[in-house]
Amino acid sequence: MIEFSYGKEAISEAARKVVEVASSERIWVFKGEMGAGKTTLIKALASIFEIQDQISSPTFGIVNEYENKSDEKFYHFDFYRLDDPTEALDIGIEEYFYSKNYCWLEWAEKIAEFLPDQYFLIKIEILSETERNLTLQHINDVS
Ligand SMILES: Nc1ncnc2c1ncn2[C@@H]1O[C@H](COP(=O)(O)OP(=O)(O)O)[C@@H](O)[C@H]1O
Ligand SMILES: [Mg+2]
Repeated sequence: MIEFSYGKEAISEAARKVVEVASSERIWVFKGEMGAGKTTLIKALASIFEIQDQISSPTFGIVNEYENKSDEKFYHFDFYRLDDPTEALDIGIEEYFYSKNYCWLEWAEKIAEFLPDQYFLIKIEILSETERNLTLQHINDVS
């Protein structure tokens, strides 16, 4: 487990560390309360992967698809508005997960039963108005 804090001005550096630790995993779960900085961190990650698409929380469509110059695809989910977890199956969440493309998930708590056993957990906690604490952890629930 890796833990560190960062201010908004250091977010690129924080994102770079995340990529260093997490890049072997394809499913990245961003966990933190509203306003913690999940989407903001994903924007910084997108910049590292040279994604030029507009990054926004896909509140209405549940998933946004981005592409970078190397034709890599990235899927950004936000399940906050999901009422029934089975709706995630309807949008084909399992195909996204098995696609081998990076999947970035906000509010994965809402689809806990459909999360794969193995993923990368990025916990964000608010320390102050400008400081966040990040905890990075490989999860493998196969037991
Ligand atoms: N160190 C920081 N990292 C990320 N966001 C920060 C930080 N400091 C302040 N903020 C602010 O906190 C808010 C985070 O919003 P957002 O990323 O949309 O949160 P979430 O997606 O978790 O709901 C933004 O307004 C951002 O400017
Ligand atoms: Mg968000």
